[in-house]
Amino acid sequence: MDRRLFLKTSATGLAGLAITSCGGSGNGGGMGGSSSANPSLNTGVFTRAFNTPPELVGTVDLVTGNKVFNLNMQTGTKQFTGQGTTQTMGINGNFLAPTLRVTKGDVLNLNVTNQLGQETTLHWHGMRPPSDMDGGPHQKILHGATWNAAYTVNQRASTNWYHPHPHGTTAAQVYAGLAGMMIVDDAETAALDLPKTYDTDDFPVIVQDRDMNADGSFAYSVTRMETMQGKKGNTMLVNGVVDPVLDVPAKEVRFRLLNGSNSRIYNFNLSGGLGFKLIANEQGLLAAPVSLTSITMSPGERAEIVVDLTAQLGNRFTFNDSNTGIALFQLNVNQAATVATTTPAILSTTLVPLLRSQAVRTRQFILSMGQGNVYINNKQMNMAVIDEVMTLNQIEILDIQNTSNMDHNFHIHGAHFQLLTRNGAAPKAFEAGLKDTVYLPPNSRVEAIIQFKQATIANAPYMYHCHILEHEDAGMMGQFTVV
Ligand code: C2O
Ligand code: CU
Ligand code: CU
Repeated sequence: MDRRLFLKTSATGLAGLAITSCGGSGNGGGMGGSSSANPSLNTGVFTRAFNTPPELVGTVDLVTGNKVFNLNMQTGTKQFTGQGTTQTMGINGNFLAPTLRVTKGDVLNLNVTNQLGQETTLHWHGMRPPSDMDGGPHQKILHGATWNAAYTVNQRASTNWYHPHPHGTTAAQVYAGLAGMMIVDDAETAALDLPKTYDTDDFPVIVQDRDMNADGSFAYSVTRMETMQGKKGNTMLVNGVVDPVLDVPAKEVRFRLLNGSNSRIYNFNLSGGLGFKLIANEQGLLAAPVSLTSITMSPGERAEIVVDLTAQLGNRFTFNDSNTGIALFQLNVNQAATVATTTPAILSTTLVPLLRSQAVRTRQFILSMGQGNVYINNKQMNMAVIDEVMTLNQIEILDIQNTSNMDHNFHIHGAHFQLLTRNGAAPKAFEAGLKDTVYLPPNSRVEAIIQFKQATIANAPYMYHCHILEHEDAGMMGQFTVV
């Protein structure tokens, strides 16, 4: 069946269904709850160049030794496909943002200027700044103002990202284009024989969906139903480009995957059954690579994968989402490798798992929906209310339950966690590393173990929330202090 036709039929079918019911998992086949009337603009033919966002390493302040980054949040316009022009937002550009490249131990000085014409914030998702530098909803940047975020990079090598976090308007600002990667390097990772040359054998892959009109333009708006189901688009972008092709060398190639979508859950795979090794998730290297043929990612999650293309010179592969049946980009293995890499069988020996026996308490987070609202522990985000008080350095179990029949996930600021169980069973190897965001399919439960190592600063709580941005904006978020 013609895929465009399939998508159109499927989207219409779901929209019809949505009138009578707000249920459904949102992660089945087809367009997964999209109410778009328009067919996907992904064609399965890859004619545009892959866009690797420019890397920004900062300038070293000769007096302080700090690394200074100047980030300008600005508006712009862009044509994605066809003749339609979209009003966009970007950082130091029209859409998306440069990849910030930092090293463990760096003292960062991030000067963030807001030229958006509206209030914003800029959050370093997965980073470990003190709470007043976190860029959450309390660190508002008014139009025309510059916010200086200064902090020391104090975490292992990992693929993180940055995006706005103003309460109530995060979804619209991210959708307009405000998102970028933030990569941390450290000595442990640098010593490994992994693909690590940016834009040569190490590529950021920011996957987003947009609800495009036939002319390739889009604008953010949500119906009540989309607020509940999450805004899903008909067309997939990779680093801001529809249907890109990437020329790669015939060697191991590393992709730093980020689901930067507002709400869509993906299940990625490569054509021809080509497998890959998962080497890292949100908070860095796994103990050992995990061989996979597909990986599920909910919004905000990251995964670093290595694909071995050594024997594939002259071949092409597509990188696909099996939830929609859409091919997102093409790999064209058209260059002989100059230098080979061999991903080691042991990646990290520094991961010390927290043990259930070390936990002194369990804290429940119930993700629920009802009467057209979204809740965590039956509450909605209130900027004036501290929902939880954590004890510094205490080890706890987070018992996170999705009691609804729709997709959610759970992200926490200022700390990372490890999964103990998923639906009562041991987590799969691909979820075994250090995480800051975890997927909760309908009616599911995870137990995670966590230690809060960073005390909060006055008037600057950290957040926890569902990273489906429509849910977050609708109040599926809470605040905590660490004392
Ligand atoms: Cu990616 Cu609280 O956010
Ligand atoms: Cu975050
Ligand atoms: Cu949610």
